[in-house]
Amino acid sequence: MDRVMGNPQPEISRKCVWSLLAALLITLLVGLPQARAQAILEGERFHPVQGTQGMVATSHTLATEIALEVLENGGNAVDAAVTAGFALAVTQPRSGNIGGGGFMLYAPGDGGAPEAIDYRETAPAGATETMFQNADGEVVQQRSRFSHQAAGVPGTVAGLSLALERHGTISLEQALAPAIKLAREGFEVPRRFTEGLEQARERLERWPATKATFYNADGSAPQPGSVFRQPELADTLQRIADQGPKGFYEGETARLIVEEMQRHDGLITLEDLQTYQPAIREPVHGTYRGHDIYSMSPPSSGGTHIVQILNILEHYPIAELGHNSAATVHRMAEAMKLAYADRAKYLGDTDFVDVPVTGLTSKGYAAALQATIDPDRARPSSEISAGNPAPWESNETTHFSIVDRWGNAVSNTYTINFSYGSGITVAGAGFLLNNEMDDFSAKPGVPNAYGLIGGEANKIEPGKRMLSSMSPTIVRKDGRNYLVTGSPGGSRIITTTLQVLMNVIDHNMNIQSAVSAPRMHHQWLPDEIRMEQGFSPDTIELLEGLGHKVSISRAMGAIQSVLIGEDGTLYGGADPRRSTSAAMGY
Ligand code: GLY
Repeated sequence: MDRVMGNPQPEISRKCVWSLLAALLITLLVGLPQARAQAILEGERFHPVQGTQGMVATSHTLATEIALEVLENGGNAVDAAVTAGFALAVTQPRSGNIGGGGFMLYAPGDGGAPEAIDYRETAPAGATETMFQNADGEVVQQRSRFSHQAAGVPGTVAGLSLALERHGTISLEQALAPAIKLAREGFEVPRRFTEGLEQARERLERWPATKATFYNADGSAPQPGSVFRQPELADTLQRIADQGPKGFYEGETARLIVEEMQRHDGLITLEDLQTYQPAIREPVHGTYRGHDIYSMSPPSSGGTHIVQILNILEHYPIAELGHNSAATVHRMAEAMKLAYADRAKYLGDTDFVDVPVTGLTSKGYAAALQATIDPDRARPSSEISAGNPAPWESNETTHFSIVDRWGNAVSNTYTINFSYGSGITVAGAGFLLNNEMDDFSAKPGVPNAYGLIGGEANKIEPGKRMLSSMSPTIVRKDGRNYLVTGSPGGSRIITTTLQVLMNVIDHNMNIQSAVSAPRMHHQWLPDEIRMEQGFSPDTIELLEGLGHKVSISRAMGAIQSVLIGEDGTLYGGADPRRSTSAAMGY
């Protein structure tokens, strides 16, 4: 069977290379203006990749290829997902990881109940509510973001292993083999890899182990086209292959993590590592115009607020109002503000606090909120505070989506928080530690790195999981898996994922167009609509006329999606916003 490359990046995609060559040839022959050549390239952003047996969309070509091979060799979606997860830890160290955590949503192809695996990091036992405040009660961001104390107890190894144990058909050793090979023998550096290391140079070079692991001996970043090897990471991964999760949470790797902590006032102890447990959670469930939406439950806020916002927007004829029209964007922004105000007050780890998920995701609460939206005026965020869901009550990242020949679907988002996490590499073990502790509320009302406000529900407590926005999502239609999606992007993950759902369900876009279309975001505070380039000046003017402050933002998110057509055809959509993204099917 043919394999189809879905990477929209000209430097990597074969389709794009041919388009480029054709465009150049035509330009030379008939003097076609440059804009036409670009338009030909732009076309790649709107055509999904097709397959019938399996489809993988990840943020790195090599991870996509490796996961697809697992499917071609008879593995299922979970086998492919776990293999991709470990491969990304090698090829994309800025977000792929074994030093962080995340969430996996699995929906079996036979219509059985979807399941969420929560492998979010936890606060070490030594963590305290005020650990990131100085003597004057001010939050010290340097400590919550760029110190050893910023690291939560990593969950990725335990989470991916549990997924394989529950639903996989291959061994952990098999799932790790490609990653170990890539780490030991190296891989060809893409331009994005070099650019990332150059951009983060200042905060990465201050840690000797990070400098030695990711930069050349002369201090330069590995150059595009060169081969990049990670022998220490290869050994770390080999220990997991040999001993299972114990090869990470106990023994040599655990010793290296604990020694790293002890040298720099970090908090993670051997006991924290040995007692880390991933959790099986019931996904948040809602409906939107006849589709069943399954997404991540607390300690992520993602699923709760995607369902809440969709419930509000269901009251409007969004398709008629039009894609990215001022009328649609206004209603979306107003709904987003209400949801993010609730997020700040109510959301936290349900193992520690009660989160009114049922109320927040109920149609009744959404109707009450929708009634407060003025179609002709933006309500300033200062006039909005968290609502009362109680009456309805009975919770730099990377994402990949995979569907196998049996229709099983995996939607996985995992992270070390910032690009390169804390920037701290565990000396001798070759992997970066997360700085996920910054996702807790260091002090009520003080925004985290994403400008998100938190309160009591998300205060730091030993063993607690910090609130996330990660939103791995699976949509079912008539009981069968239909759309698998999710994104990185910090606070924008929720709204990014939401817009792909709306683009498919409301605006009837194919999956690649739905992924590529320009996006907007509002998170209550700051009180502004962030818009990517691509919205018309007329739309922006109309929104400003309604009272919105609009700011043009950099690209938001990097959605990787798979859509299953009614006849079973698989469509992959990789996000052109991340240059190494690739969807491939067979
Ligand atoms: N670290 C970003 C998130 O989990 O939402």
